[in-house]
Order: sequence, then structure tokens, then C-alpha cells
Amino acid sequence: MDIRYDPNVMVGLGVPDDAGVYQLSEELALVQTVDFFSPNVDDPYSFGAIAAANALSDIYAMGGRPIAALNVICFPQKKLPLNIMEEILRGGSEKAAEAGISIIGGHSLKDDEPKYGLCVAGLVHPQKIITNAKARGGDALILTKPIGIGIINAAIKAGIASDETTQQAIELMSQLNRKASEVMMEIGVNACTDVTGFGLLGHLHQMTSASGVGAHIILSKVPVIPQTWQLLKEVGIPPGSKANFDFLEGKIDWDSNISNEERLLLCDAQTSGGLLISIARDRSDQLLETLHSAGIPVATEIGEIISDENRRIRVSKK
Ligand code: CO
Ligand code: CO
Ligand code: CO
Repeated sequence: MDIRYDPNVMVGLGVPDDAGVYQLSEELALVQTVDFFSPNVDDPYSFGAIAAANALSDIYAMGGRPIAALNVICFPQKKLPLNIMEEILRGGSEKAAEAGISIIGGHSLKDDEPKYGLCVAGLVHPQKIITNAKARGGDALILTKPIGIGIINAAIKAGIASDETTQQAIELMSQLNRKASEVMMEIGVNACTDVTGFGLLGHLHQMTSASGVGAHIILSKVPVIPQTWQLLKEVGIPPGSKANFDFLEGKIDWDSNISNEERLLLCDAQTSGGLLISIARDRSDQLLETLHSAGIPVATEIGEIISDENRRIRVSKK
């Protein structure tokens, strides 16, 4: 069989979604993803936990239930003590345990700079997959974690983030999107993606492009980690976030009273960010209330999907 035309591929390379989906039977599809990166925090245990939460997030964004994972690790064995690698792996495996899964294998490689992440397998009912391609005009847009992590990570790297800010960022990045995903599957939503490297507007742009719709984001409603504004002034915008901003040039209709800093922040590259959910208006209050009582108080409606064949994204202040 020509694998390019394997009819069991439900979500594959041709579409920019969070994970691949492969149908196994009438009632079961396999969701697969791999994600790994270089340390963004000093503490190896926290780095392991963050990388694992980030990798698992793509399964949650598809509405999947993770079942098992593999470690992917690069490590400079001659430059760094081996117990650092052990701490990274311990952070990863404890996060996997929190997600209710085991790490059942993996692969390691010598490399000048450490890198770590997971290859995760999950399951979903083939009719219940949540892609980023089915957002509909009138849907409410819900975000489940605040943004600003990219800027805070840059401040951590520059050594100007306070211990408290660093700890808060670690907690946020380590937080699984499991509960948020379970709640969205219980209520029923139209589309979802997790907010990671392309930033809030970059991932929204993937959703609106794939769905053939426009969107309206209300800046004052977007949850932002409070210290971000000050740290943005001090460290400037990280290169990855600036690249997102440049990519989106001409694709966003900014209201003129939105500052350059505010524009950059909405494009800030996130690590292990929250879920961006598109849900029918008549169910959005129920989704928010259930997310709040499930221990995700920050979940907020940040705007809506607009029927617009030109797929424009408008950002207004209020
Ligand atoms: Co993703
Ligand atoms: Co990913
Ligand atoms: Co191997």
C-alpha cells in the first residue's frame, strides 16, 4: 500500500494540528506526538517535568487520553554529571505518573547541549477527535492558562527574574492540561489547540486558517502573567516571539490604540501553554464554570470566532 494514501490516517502531516491520529478500529484511534527541547530553567527536575507536560499537551489538545510514553534525551555525558540526567528523567517520569501513564522506553544520544521530551501515545474515539479545523462563526474562544511565559523564560535566562516569578513560571509550565481536556470532552467543543511555540495569535491563526473563519480577540480579557509587562521592558521580546510577530504581519487587524508591546505579547512563544478552545456560544458558560470548579480559575473567554471567508483576526482593546 502507498502509505501516503493510507485511509486510516485521520490527521497527518498535511495539516498543522497538534498530533497525528491513526484509526485502529471503528471505536479506537491512536493519537501520537513527539516534542523535546533544550532546558529553559536551571533546575533539571523542573525541566524534565515541564518538557513532559508540554509533550503530553498535544494529546490533550486533540481530546485524547494518553496511554504510554517514550523518553527522548540528548545529554553531554562528558561535560555534565550524570545525576543531572537522572533528575531530568525523574521529573519527566513523575509528571507522566501524574498523567496516569508509564514511560515504557526511550532513546538517548550524546549531544553538546541537553535536550529532553517525550514521544506520547494516546487513544481517542475516532468520532470524538478535536482538531483545530472545526471552529464555527459565533463560537466563544476560551484560554486556560495565562500568557507571557516566553518573556519570563527570557528574563530567567538573563538572570533578572525574581525567585518568586521563576517558581510561578515553573508551576505554570509544569501544569498538565489534563483536567482542561477532560472538561472540554465532557461538555463538547468544536475545536481546540494548545498554545505553544507560535504564541496565542500564531496558534489562533492556524485554527482560523484550518477552519475557514475569522476571529476577534479582546486584549483586556486575555490573562497575562502580571510580571510579564515589566520584564518585557527589561529583556525585550525573545527572538522566537518576534519571529511569530513577523510571520503574522498583515494577517492581523490591530486596533490603532494597541501598543507595540501589547502586539508582541500576544505573539509571545509559550512553553507548555494552555488550551485554546472554540465552543458553541450556548455552552461556553457551562464550560467556563466547569473549568473553574475543576481547579482552573484562570480559564477565561478572550474573544470569539467570526464568520469571515477572508479569515481575518481582529484585536481590539476592549
Ligand atoms: Co500543540
Ligand atoms: Co508539539
Ligand atoms: Co534506540
